Formats: sequence, C-alpha cells, structure tokens
Amino acid sequence: EMASKEGYSHFMLKEIHEQPMALRNTLAGIERDEVTKIGAELADARHIFITASGTSLHAGLIGDYLLTTVAGADVHTFTSSEYRKYMKTAGEGDVAIVVSQSGETIDALLALRALKSAGVKVIAISNVMDSAIPRESHLAIYTRTGPEIGVAATKTFTAQLMVLTILAMSAAAARGYVNDDEAAYFMNEMEQVPDVVQATLANNEAKIKRVAASISRASSMYYLGRGLGLPISMEGALKMKEVAYIHAEAYPAGESKHGPIALVEKSFPVLFTIFNDEYGEAMEGNIMEMKARDAYAIGVIPKSLEERLDKVLDIAIPIGVEEPAIATIAYSVPMQLLAYYTAVARGLDPDKPRNLAKTVTVE
Ligand code: AGP
Repeated sequence: EMASKEGYSHFMLKEIHEQPMALRNTLAGIERDEVTKIGAELADARHIFITASGTSLHAGLIGDYLLTTVAGADVHTFTSSEYRKYMKTAGEGDVAIVVSQSGETIDALLALRALKSAGVKVIAISNVMDSAIPRESHLAIYTRTGPEIGVAATKTFTAQLMVLTILAMSAAAARGYVNDDEAAYFMNEMEQVPDVVQATLANNEAKIKRVAASISRASSMYYLGRGLGLPISMEGALKMKEVAYIHAEAYPAGESKHGPIALVEKSFPVLFTIFNDEYGEAMEGNIMEMKARDAYAIGVIPKSLEERLDKVLDIAIPIGVEEPAIATIAYSVPMQLLAYYTAVARGLDPDKPRNLAKTVTVE
C-alpha cells in the first residue's frame, strides 16, 4: 500500500496532486469528432436530462448551468435516486447524460434504464471502461484519470467538469451561440488548465493547511456561491462532510438573508466561491453581510479581484484563471485540499471515511 501511495500520506492527497496529469490525459483522450457529434445531438434535444449521485451530480450541475446559459438548452438535472419524477416528461427526442465515476452506482444505473426505456438517448460519462453504465448507454465518453482509490472523489470530479464543459461548448457552437474563433479560444484556454491546476497546488497548499487548522475547530460551516459557484460550493461542502465530518452546508449566496444567516456568529467559517462573472458585486455584498456578524470569511477568488476582495476577506485564495467556465476546474482544487487538511488536523483518515463505500451498489 505504501508503494502505491508514492510517498503521499494518503491516496486522497496523491489523487489531488495527480490532477494535472489526469486532466491532460482526459483532454488527450477526447475525440473532436465525437464531441462535435454529441454537441449536435445536445443542441437538437427537446429536453436534456442529467443524472448522477454525489460528486458526479455536482459535476452534472456545472454541465446543466453551461448547457442552459451558454447553449440555451432546456436542462433538468436530478439526483439519480429521484428519477421517477421525470417518467412522464422524458421520451423520444430527449438526451440524457449519466455521470458516474465508477460506472456501477445502482441509483444511476436504475435512472439510466428508466430513461432508456422511455425512449431517451443516453450518453454516459465514466472513468471505468466497460463498466455497467457506459455498457448500457448508447454512447460513452471517458474521463482518463487512472483508478481513483480514495473514497472521496477528487481527480475524477475535475475530469468530469472538463468533459461536461467541452460538451456544453460544443452544443453552444452547434446552436450558433459560439463562433469558430470563440470555440478555438475556449479550447486553447482548456489546454492551459492542467498547468493552472499545477500552479494552484504549488501556490496555495501551505496557506490552505493553515486555514484548515482554524477550520478544524469548527462544528459547522457554510459554502456560498452564485451561478457556477453554487455546484462548486456544493462539492466543497460534500468533501468537508465526507472526510472531516464537519457539518458543511452549501447554498446560493442570495439565500443567506432568507434564513441561514441566523446561525452565523463570531468565527463561523464561510467559504465564498467567486468567479470573474456578473455575480462579483453581489458576492462582495454577501461577504460584508457575513463579516458584519464576525464570520471567518474565506474566498476562492479570481486573481483580478484579489486587491479588492483581500480587504473584506480574512483569507483570499486567488486562482490564476479568469474564464469562469474553465476556472471551475482549478477552483475545485483548494476545496479538496481544505477538506483533506482539515480531516488530517482532526486526526482522521481521509482515505477511510466512516459509513462510506467508494461505490454504492444498494438503492
Ligand atoms: C464522492 O466523494 C462520494 N464518494 C460519492 O458522492 C460519489 O461521488 C457517488 O457515490 C457517485 O459515485 P459514482 O460517480 O461512482 O457514480
């Protein structure tokens, strides 16, 4: 076991660090022709359904946001165990994307079968060749991260984001919302992502370890975001719950005043996910709101807003990529590290979280 951890203290940390390579391999394995074909199918679909569980669902929600906002598609994303809700609306002319790292999650498999028998065309995104979900789908597209041993999904999540983002852009191109130059610019930016992730790891790990030491004494925390920041927050919170056993709740930042802010008191940790997008100012307002209650405000932010947000945040984690649709991948990295180092600071083994299995094969 020591050998396969290659000197890292846990598989989770090793897999976090494998992300530049995992993303490079995933990108290299994506066939342009196939992406164009799937993009056209998504563009023509009556409805698009995205279904998955856990971390894969959060990746699906990023796909949903981009397919809706950039490609103008009608997308419905749901946790696979709730598929029955859609059994009267799903049918011929619809396309479903089933996201599953393992390809064996029973909830996702049952949703897939139901959608398929309703006449929906199913596309699988998986990390395991010829596992049940890709096998039973009409089409499969793979993340190529190598096996993921840690129970907490890390490298497979960012690779799923990469695939879903590329598919959404392809659908936007097929619908004429993105022209050739924009598509080329986008792919060029995507090719930089492995290096950005590498730099994100190199520049922030020590700082995050310090933040983790303070967080480790908390019993509860919030993750707030808007737009693309919401699924990224949800994934950050799930990682924190899974490995550090801290009650971490993610919700749209605009919801704070509608209830959750009642819990906030001195030193309550709140992690803000802020992109260089139309939500920047509203998010700054949300930071002020939390600071007025003496919260401990951490922000994962774009470099371009560092000077401005550094003044209002307790801790700023600047990420060196500005295009929000691409930045989601790099932004996930500090969230993973924070959960990992918080677990370690609490004396827990992040590779073996209690009550959890890597692949869930019961309903
Ligand atoms: C992620 O950290 C979890 N272990 C869990 O939520 C997982 O993402 C979920 O069970 C789905 O697994 P799958 O991607 O293999 O279908």
